Amino acid sequence: MHFVFLIFGIMISFLSIGQKKTIDQKVDSVLKLMTLDEKVGQMNQYNGDWDATGPITADGDKQNQIRKGMLGSMLNVTGVEHTRQLQEIAMQSRLKIPLLFGQDIIHGYRTTFPVPLAEAASWDLNAIQLSARIAATEAAASGVHWTFAPMVDIARDPRWGRVMEGAGEDPYLGSLIAKARVNGFQGKGLGNTDALMACAKHYAAYGAAIGGRDYNAVDMSLNTLWEIYLPPFRAAADAGAATFMNSFNTLNGIPATGNGYLQRDILKGKWNFKGFIVSDWNSVGEMIPHGFAKDNYDASLEAITAGNDMDMESRSYINNLSKLVKDGRVNMKLVDDAVKRILKKKFEMGLFEDPFKFSNKEREQHQWNNSENLEAEKSMAEKSIVLLKNDNQLLPLLKQKNIALIGPFIKGIRDNLGFWSYTWPDDSSRIVSAWQGIKNKVGSNVNLLYAKGCNINDTSHAGFSEAIATATQADVVILNVGEAADWSGEAKSRSNIHLPGVQEELIRAIYATGKPVVVMINAGRPLIFNWTADHVPAILYTWWLGTKAGDAIADVLFGDYNPSAKLPMSFPRDEGQIPIYYNYFNTGRPAKGDSDLNYVSSYIDLPNSPKFPFGYGLSYTTFSYSDIKLSAASFKPGQTLTASVVVTNTGKYDGIETVQLYTRDLVGSVVRPVKELKGFQQVSLKTGANKTITFHITANDLKFYNNKLEYNYEAGDFKIFIGTNSHDVKEASFALVK
Ligand code: NOJ
Repeated sequence: MHFVFLIFGIMISFLSIGQKKTIDQKVDSVLKLMTLDEKVGQMNQYNGDWDATGPITADGDKQNQIRKGMLGSMLNVTGVEHTRQLQEIAMQSRLKIPLLFGQDIIHGYRTTFPVPLAEAASWDLNAIQLSARIAATEAAASGVHWTFAPMVDIARDPRWGRVMEGAGEDPYLGSLIAKARVNGFQGKGLGNTDALMACAKHYAAYGAAIGGRDYNAVDMSLNTLWEIYLPPFRAAADAGAATFMNSFNTLNGIPATGNGYLQRDILKGKWNFKGFIVSDWNSVGEMIPHGFAKDNYDASLEAITAGNDMDMESRSYINNLSKLVKDGRVNMKLVDDAVKRILKKKFEMGLFEDPFKFSNKEREQHQWNNSENLEAEKSMAEKSIVLLKNDNQLLPLLKQKNIALIGPFIKGIRDNLGFWSYTWPDDSSRIVSAWQGIKNKVGSNVNLLYAKGCNINDTSHAGFSEAIATATQADVVILNVGEAADWSGEAKSRSNIHLPGVQEELIRAIYATGKPVVVMINAGRPLIFNWTADHVPAILYTWWLGTKAGDAIADVLFGDYNPSAKLPMSFPRDEGQIPIYYNYFNTGRPAKGDSDLNYVSSYIDLPNSPKFPFGYGLSYTTFSYSDIKLSAASFKPGQTLTASVVVTNTGKYDGIETVQLYTRDLVGSVVRPVKELKGFQQVSLKTGANKTITFHITANDLKFYNNKLEYNYEAGDFKIFIGTNSHDVKEASFALVK
């Protein structure tokens, strides 16, 4: 009898879902039908063992749990076939609530794009958005609903391996890129079959792990938190990111996963975020070794109280949350709120109407080999390559008779993709190595010579003599070095970020032949290569550029693309300078220059300045900047100040320049950084052409957090800087008056 009523109830509720109810009403009707255990089930997420031998999950128990409604989501299950199989099991559960499938679509899916840090170097928001759009389209066609991206952690420490997943050190640039990526992933909106739910992560301050050691504690002032680390999260929330992921780290003594200030007060409170928060992998359980929770029961209590809605893989919620409610420790309202947030996203995705909406073989097949996506990837890769040095205009190269291609990366295949990329057995033929790209470009009239020289992390010099002999026969040498593809990424912190092994020795040996040398550096982070930077005439930073890496590299080497990228992170001279970033605070004893060492704030053995500053990147052409013209010497809140410069292409090539605007608030109630990026514009100029670039500044652009954490501007004197990077700028002054 009871059973009949239940079925009737479910039918009524689901039927009425079809009528004109708001999503919130639909969510409420489903929630009403759910038992406490089913609610907790929605808050539970498991890994799918997609790389295990079984077709979906080797763990039969997980399938049973899906059948019992004890699971709301899975990660790492992908492909139309696999996701369909699991969704079919979910449809055998009492309430038939569809599963959400999540995956780390960090820089592409079938088509691998440059690592996010490399893309950030493009400063091209449209291209970055398109990259996320394509990744979403491909992944959504393979049954994925949700990406654990964008990672919007600000990073000032290149030892931290995860710098490759983000947009670098600057909160302004980082916020714009966060928005572009959320918009890209979510496309025209959830519910479209090519939209993935975005997930801003890792909330919050994960990038400031002490010593750059992954998962480490974070300790920072609230001013730094609000001013530097939170803005990209705010931007992602404002852009409508469907979900957030909290983080592994403690922040000022409280694990982010159990941090009510971050999750309830700021994100769900002040920012009015309506999506749901997923934990990071086992981060609920990891509050035990942190020393914040006694056991998983306690950890669940802390996590739900703090606002964590879904538990990734720790099984803390599924094993404890119902009991916590029954014990009166957790108010049912907290559970209901979390479940509503999760169900709401499932409704918005359209999964209640059609749980198999993302399981379309044809769509998957089409996206599997989409040549337009590959073209967009190549273009993104070109925009990501940073020209660090080009003495005597060695680049672009002529198609000379003999070109030597040397180094452990020049024929690399998998090495072009970097961490968080997916490869398939058939995939290697699609990946264009530097060797292949150059070969395709130069044609058969050019004789390409090859020597590996050494391995990535070699101690042996055995390959040097062959490499030297090869270089000697060539007109020009292209030398491709760097760090291994899996040396940056999660849990890939390094205390030593110099070029690994004997690679810099190889560069010296090849340089000693007297041949012109171009060095290309593959990496997921800023590396240290001082000797190379001081001696070798031409250097390209080629990161991990993705599927069409070699084609993009060849276009740049031979001048079919004029480099336009700018560094999104400062490059240190030595690990001893880290953390290093352009927007630092002045001291009471600032050093006047790199050689001012006595009783000033400096190192006695190293300049303060980075090897390459934030925002730096050359072009094959040159740009000159006029002095800054201000519309007024002072302005008031409510008014707009305009600042303009004339930028002229003074070189021999057409090119793209990223004109950067920085300000400095000279005296504040709390001290202000020596420079803060406040705007940038990309301008494409034909050789000889010029353009007036105008920035509009209002008092709102000059706001900061005071010592009461109030966000406001203060009247006073300011400097304004406009230039080609954070160091080489024109300067002017203005005042903000009341
Ligand atoms: C742990 C990582 O920190 C996070 O970024 C990722 O999304 C999850 N694992 C799932 O793979």
